[in-house]
Amino acid sequence: MAEQINISSNISRSETYRQLVPQLEALVQGEPSVVANLANIAAALKQAFGFFWVGFYLVEKDELVLGPFQGEIACTRISFGKGVCGTSWKDKKTIIVPDVAKFPGHIACSSASKSEIVVPVVVDEKVIAVLDVDSNVLNDFDHNDQVGLEQIANLLGPLFK
Ligand code: SME
Repeated sequence: MAEQINISSNISRSETYRQLVPQLEALVQGEPSVVANLANIAAALKQAFGFFWVGFYLVEKDELVLGPFQGEIACTRISFGKGVCGTSWKDKKTIIVPDVAKFPGHIACSSASKSEIVVPVVVDEKVIAVLDVDSNVLNDFDHNDQVGLEQIANLLGPLFK
C-alpha cells in the first residue's frame, strides 16, 4: 500500500480530487479490511482538504451506524430516511446542503457544522454506507465535490463484496 498521500499545494479542490482519487485507489488495493480502508480514506480526505468532519456511516439493518471518521465525536445511529445521511440512503443519491439550518430534519452532531454533503456508497444497487462531509462554513460544497466524492464512493463499493 502507498504510505503517504501527496497533494500539490495551492491547487483547486477539483485538481485535489484529481490527484487524490488514484492515490486512494492504490491505498486500498490489496487490503481486505473494510474498516482499515474506510479509516485511511477518512484520514486522507481530512489531510487533503482539512474538512471539519469526514467519515462513514454503515448500513446495519434499518439504521446507519457510525463508522471510521475524522473530526469531533458524532451521533452513532441514524434511522432510514432521517437527517441528511438517512435521506441520502433512502433516495440513493448525493445530497448537497448549503445551509444545514434550512434542511428539514438535519441532525446536528455539532453546532459548528454549517454545510454538508452526503454521498451514498452503492453495491449491487443497494446502499451499504454513506460518506458524510461537514463544513464549519456555509455553502462549502459544490458540483466538484459531488464528482470527486462520488468517484471515491465508487472505489469503495467493491471493498464491501
Ligand atoms: N448531519 C448528519 C448527521 C451526521 S453528522 O453530521 C456527523 C445528518 O443530518 O444526517
